[in-house]
Amino acid sequence: MRCIVTGGAGFLGSHLCESLLSRGHSVCVVDDLFRGRKSNMEDCKGMPDFHFVLGDCSNIEKMEKAEEKLNGVDVIFHLAAINGTRYFNERPDLVINVNIKTTNTVVKFASDRGARLVFTSSPEAFGIQNQMPLDEEAEAISPSPHHHLRHSYGASKYLGEILVQYAVRERGLDGRIIRPFNGYGPRLKGGEHGQVTSIFIQQCLENSNITLHGDGSQTRCFTWYSDLIDGIVALGELDEGLDGSSLKGRSFNIGSKEEVTIRDLAELTLEISGSKKEIVPEEGHPGDTLRRVPDTSSAEAALGWQSTVGIKEGILRCWEWILSE
Ligand SMILES: NC(=O)c1ccc[n+]([C@@H]2O[C@H](COP(=O)([O-])OP(=O)(O)OC[C@H]3O[C@@H](n4cnc5c(N)ncnc54)[C@H](O)[C@@H]3O)[C@@H](O)[C@H]2O)c1
Repeated sequence: MRCIVTGGAGFLGSHLCESLLSRGHSVCVVDDLFRGRKSNMEDCKGMPDFHFVLGDCSNIEKMEKAEEKLNGVDVIFHLAAINGTRYFNERPDLVINVNIKTTNTVVKFASDRGARLVFTSSPEAFGIQNQMPLDEEAEAISPSPHHHLRHSYGASKYLGEILVQYAVRERGLDGRIIRPFNGYGPRLKGGEHGQVTSIFIQQCLENSNITLHGDGSQTRCFTWYSDLIDGIVALGELDEGLDGSSLKGRSFNIGSKEEVTIRDLAELTLEISGSKKEIVPEEGHPGDTLRRVPDTSSAEAALGWQSTVGIKEGILRCWEWILSE
């Protein structure tokens, strides 16, 4: 398959490129390096079937350039987005603008070319939910923006899903949606605009206290990156579901079912790193959802998907990776 990967210099995107190349596909990344890094693509660079276009994928010319490099396009994996919780509250204008503009361009481009589209949405598209596990058909619940702006990201993903479904209905797009639940692994960004597993690991590496947002009782199901990549690749490769179902216009949750509190994650990271520092609660992000657990039955049936790496093993592997860097 000739694959365009938008956001391919990022955390999930770069691992996706490696997986696609190893399976014999050709790949062209379109990434403006807002949060991605060239070094993430180091293992892909130099492979004859790998190409890179630097730029904003909401610019149709960048998508056309990628298509030229591949001599056509069969599948587009659309991962480019502004991700990272701090941005959701601090730069909702950027989050909304980039996430919707890129998806709009990519959906139109895929529809015009008759290419298959895999759009990475997010469980955040459902807003704040009380009922878990979260199934694919749950209704989205968003609090008033009067209180906080957190749902800029979730709302942009929700609207992205609408753009995909509209093109499926009106333009015959073979559009498919995947919602990864809290991916983690090598290359996940830590620091100010990073994600929680990497932030905790970095704090241990720097021998600092681990800081919690709130009391740490909120839960997440952290999913090892290669499990997520397996799901994304399967959704791009399969013509129909393994159970014979159509994949067009479908959305799939993929995520581990091992529910852990953020405080447990902090304790585990201290234990694995051998750090003797403390866990310090700080002010939380407003609008942080209290529980997030996926119902993955559709992905299991149609994609043969399952989570294979538990949190203890995953954090250990992350710690070993960061030490080797
Ligand atoms: N990591 C997760 O657990 C997770 C969970 C749910 C959904 N997702 C979604 O999966 C996708 C990948 O996530 P990630 O964790 O790898 O994030 P990431 O921030 O590491 O990767 C996103 C990439 O998109 C690029 N980008 C941003 N704006 C762009 C633009 N206008 N044009 C081209 N490239 C642009 C960034 O430079 C970056 O390389 C995102 O769409 C994200 O919303 C991720």
